[in-house]
Amino acid sequence: MMQGKTILITGGTAGIGKALAEHLINTGNQVIITGRDQDKLTRVTAALGCTGYVADSASTAQIATLAEALKQDKIQLDGLVLNAGVFYPAPILQSSEADFDQTMNINTKGPLITLQHLHPLLNNPSSVVFVSSIVVTHAFENSAAYSASKAAVEAIVRVANLEFAADGIRLNSVRPGVTATEIQAKAGMTTTQQHALFDSLNETAFGKVLTPADQIGAISFLLSDQSLAMRNAVLEVSGGYGL
Ligand SMILES: NC(=O)c1ccc[n+]([C@@H]2O[C@H](COP(=O)([O-])OP(=O)(O)OC[C@H]3O[C@@H](n4cnc5c(N)ncnc54)[C@H](OP(=O)(O)O)[C@@H]3O)[C@@H](O)[C@H]2O)c1
Repeated sequence: MMQGKTILITGGTAGIGKALAEHLINTGNQVIITGRDQDKLTRVTAALGCTGYVADSASTAQIATLAEALKQDKIQLDGLVLNAGVFYPAPILQSSEADFDQTMNINTKGPLITLQHLHPLLNNPSSVVFVSSIVVTHAFENSAAYSASKAAVEAIVRVANLEFAADGIRLNSVRPGVTATEIQAKAGMTTTQQHALFDSLNETAFGKVLTPADQIGAISFLLSDQSLAMRNAVLEVSGGYGL
């Protein structure tokens, strides 16, 4: 079991990021989370017993401030989980430019800028894990911008593995399948629609919808020294969706 590492998780105030933070804390690691909402961040960090910084993934200025604050606090990172993300579902013909730009700003530009600014704080060796999605390889209606935003970061991860190799920084991705979190309600789905979606997952090999707890193992493995030789690996954690 991984312990004694310092790990920063972007978007740690809910869902997969929060569950991962809780697990890593409980297994003896120092965890730092980010969020976009100060009140929510204060609540969650108090409950988890970890440090938190406000840093909107869409804001280069806030990410730069985050890096500065971490430096001031003399924090060096063994791991970075690029997890913060949003999903604004819309059919291509009804997609708005504003939603496309915001999706790209948060899901794609944010991870790139975070990598840039936190690079000096990453130890040699260290591990970066990008929380992608199965939408990169499976088509879901209403997810064109979201799918593009995830595929673009996977391309960035490929390049970063070369550019950061000499610094001992390795990058890998996890592609969750549909996982029951706050993201569905934030995407505007009613409870009934969420249940219909989750029930449809009963047809997968796993036989049920995934929960945040199901995503922890793959991410923890990629953060740990057990995956030291892995570069640009993609672990699909989908319960066998679309086999
Ligand atoms: N759930 C799924 O079915 C699924 C499937 C595949 C991939 N994923 C990916 O998994 C990751 C985590 O999603 P989740 O399902 O755990 O969703 P979630 O429950 O909504 O959690 C998302 C986290 O990201 C934060 N966040 C959102 N926008 C942000 C921004 N602009 N700046 C900083 N933080 C921001 C959220 O903060 P707030 O609490 O303030 O909103 C929250 O902490 C995302 O990248 C998502 O695309 C999810």
